[in-house]
Amino acid sequence: MLLTEEMIQEKVAALAQAIDRDYSGRVPVLVGVLTGATIFMADLIRKLQIPVEMEFMAVSSYGAGTESTGVVRILKDLNSEVTGRDLIIVEDIVDSGLTLAYLQSLLRARDPASLRTCVLLDKAERRETDVALDYIGFTIPNAFVIGYGLDYGGLYRQLPFVGILDPSAI
Ligand code: PRP
Repeated sequence: MLLTEEMIQEKVAALAQAIDRDYSGRVPVLVGVLTGATIFMADLIRKLQIPVEMEFMAVSSYGAGTESTGVVRILKDLNSEVTGRDLIIVEDIVDSGLTLAYLQSLLRARDPASLRTCVLLDKAERRETDVALDYIGFTIPNAFVIGYGLDYGGLYRQLPFVGILDPSAI
């Protein structure tokens, strides 16, 4: 066990409060990154008081294994135009930062009014590229984590907590 359900829910509420405060009077578009961010997105959006829109993108890194290569392709794009909108990327975890760096530059090129990033888990010591994070839930150690949207081989996303996968299970 790394983060209990209670710790996560408290943190999500705090992040929602910060977003409510910063975006008062505006209607941001939350852009979730499939698949891992779905659970975080669903909890975050329900704790927000301000009106928001919800979109999802699906991206895939080229290459096999658990390591990002930084070469990303879009599997599913946004459903609507975001020019002039306030965008908040919602991610479950930032590891190397390569996926997020790609998404940020892609969305910035669409001329949004603003672009910020909200990430639940920041595996900071793994960073390979400088990437701006505006809302961070937890900075976590370099371990293989599962639960609360994070998977191993497609499994464990449904766990309400974040755990470290026993290396013997890998
Ligand atoms: C995870 C996570 C990020 C990315 C972070 O997604 O949701 O999108 O990896 O890694 P990086 O910082 O090294 O680029 P993953 O590719 O595992 O897909 P999933 O959300 O479908 O599980």
